[in-house]
Amino acid sequence: MSGSDVIYQTEALIAEDIEAYLDLHQHKSMLRFITCGSVDDGKSTLIGRLLYDSKMIFEDQLAALETDSRKVGTQGQEIDFALLVDGLAAEREQGITIDVAYRFFSTEKRKFIVADCPGHEQYTRNMVTGASTADLAVILIDARKGVLTQTRRHSYLCHLIGIRHIVLAVNKMDLIAYDQARYDAIVADYSAFAASIGITRFTAMPISGFKGDNITAPSENTPWYTGPTLMGHLETVDVNTAAEAAGPFRMPVQWVNRPNLDFRGFSGLIANGTVKPGDAVRVLPSGKTSTVTRIVTLDGDLEEAVAGQSVTLCLADEIDCSRGDVLSAADAPPQVADQFEASLVWMADEPLVPGRAYWLKLASQTVSATVSPPKCTINVNTMERLAAKTLDLNAIGLAEITTDRAIVFEPYAESRTLGGFILIDKISNATVAAGMLNFSLRRAQNVHWQALDVTREAHARLKGQGPAVLWFTGLSGSGKSTIANMVEKRLHALGKHTFLLDGDNVRHGLNKDLGFTEADRIENIRRVGEVARLMTDAGLIVLTAFISPFRAERQMVRALLPAGEFYEIFVDTPLEEAERRDVKGLYKKARAGTLKNFTGIDSPYEAPENPEIRVDTMRETPEEAAERIVALITGEWMPVI
Ligand code: ADX
Repeated sequence: MSGSDVIYQTEALIAEDIEAYLDLHQHKSMLRFITCGSVDDGKSTLIGRLLYDSKMIFEDQLAALETDSRKVGTQGQEIDFALLVDGLAAEREQGITIDVAYRFFSTEKRKFIVADCPGHEQYTRNMVTGASTADLAVILIDARKGVLTQTRRHSYLCHLIGIRHIVLAVNKMDLIAYDQARYDAIVADYSAFAASIGITRFTAMPISGFKGDNITAPSENTPWYTGPTLMGHLETVDVNTAAEAAGPFRMPVQWVNRPNLDFRGFSGLIANGTVKPGDAVRVLPSGKTSTVTRIVTLDGDLEEAVAGQSVTLCLADEIDCSRGDVLSAADAPPQVADQFEASLVWMADEPLVPGRAYWLKLASQTVSATVSPPKCTINVNTMERLAAKTLDLNAIGLAEITTDRAIVFEPYAESRTLGGFILIDKISNATVAAGMLNFSLRRAQNVHWQALDVTREAHARLKGQGPAVLWFTGLSGSGKSTIANMVEKRLHALGKHTFLLDGDNVRHGLNKDLGFTEADRIENIRRVGEVARLMTDAGLIVLTAFISPFRAERQMVRALLPAGEFYEIFVDTPLEEAERRDVKGLYKKARAGTLKNFTGIDSPYEAPENPEIRVDTMRETPEEAAERIVALITGEWMPVI
């Protein structure tokens, strides 16, 4: 059985257990925590002590425990609490804890789920699994040994996984005669390390799991310690989803509840924020909006629901929304993207294959994803960044992830629900990695959802104009740029939103790879046509000044645009006149044969047959032509939408 199978099975069991357990303790708040340390640190003893003190052990278990304790030969008549939690026979034999075990217990004040994971480096994946759902981590230190490499590793992993509450439990105080100076030195040592990896706050306490010091009652052996007991802290620490509840509303849709034609609700666990009937919500990634009409639960309708609650929402409109979509506050939606930088913890024996497609599961979304070769791996003992070509079992690295379709997400630092994911091997179905999205790589994708709402008409309406392309064509030196420039200035003065694309400028940037062969001129016009069309989608009046010598390409651009938005303006200057002006001295070079493929000399110009406007530069000045064009456009052809 592979480690990931264990994780899956454990998680399936937890789901069942949690349900049964929650029924029993409906109205108490819940704390999920993880204990980090190894058997040597007294971890199992500590958990056993917590279970014992919270009276979650039944009589028959106690009797068995006492017998076992005698068999193993623990000191005196004291119960070996470690035997209570080190459930697997193999573990007892080897003296180590192997997989993630989840245990439930409860006190008067709170319910607890504790993930107990092994501390050795080869069990990094188990620890990450346990930590991924925890609100708090108890980092155990053996008071005789102080801060060890593994303490650093555990702290780093807990921080990476986003646990905000850290308890530094300096255990086995009884073995150092409750020495305050030694305790203070350990805390100072840890404090310096914690700060170096970004942990700004933690709660330290001197305890003995074995003797029970500062576990449920303040210990007489540590009169110098005035902080809370471990249990007291666990019972009262405010890990409550205060941060989550304060953020904007988000609920990944788990399933669409449609028992009959009269009811359609969207069920899920609220990851963030609050929701009330009447709230405007947005479905991501489609971007469609609606209003919440009801919040349905088994206990009846609610007036308000908050992060952590499972609810079914009914909406005012029949909009498309299915499993995998995310319902969010209409005015503060999460991001949508398909390329990310992510931190990955590799959990499989087979290393990462960069470029291979894995399933990526994030909240209720499942997509196909590929991982780039890692940018680096992180040595979890020293926090050093190392170069790497792949990720091996238990490796932690940074890599880029590409999904085959855009997903709804938030950076992990902002939302564990919408930023945390797992990768699954498509063939074996095993979980191969746990990951955290740091940020998306393409910002343009982030606003994808808006495109559906903000149409080309909406863009134009906001600008108070109809979009259009004024396509100036004519020989080099005919006066295209001069007239187009004047037209743009006049339109601008009239408050129109315009943009001028000019051959000489575009050929320095977008089209600098193109020359003047027939093929290159065709490509030149194709690109300019596409750009002009995009700009009209943005609601602009676009002016272009290109020779554009071929009818076919001008026709192609015309066809790209809705009828009536393309105005072909033929700046008609005879070749002799253009050559006489020769503003740039190019005709001279062409005649001399030093400039090849020059339009009108050794490359053709196909004059428009039916232009919307023809400017005869022999009869009117550029100013007059510009005036006429603007009058025509603003009067006849450019009604405000
Ligand atoms: S087009 O034919 O592909 O539409 P475009 O308008 O982009 O041409 O570029 C024309 C400008 O490039 C001219 O105004 C001139 O300044 C410059 N140019 C350089 N070489 C040539 C050439 N062989 N033929 C035409 N224009 C040239």
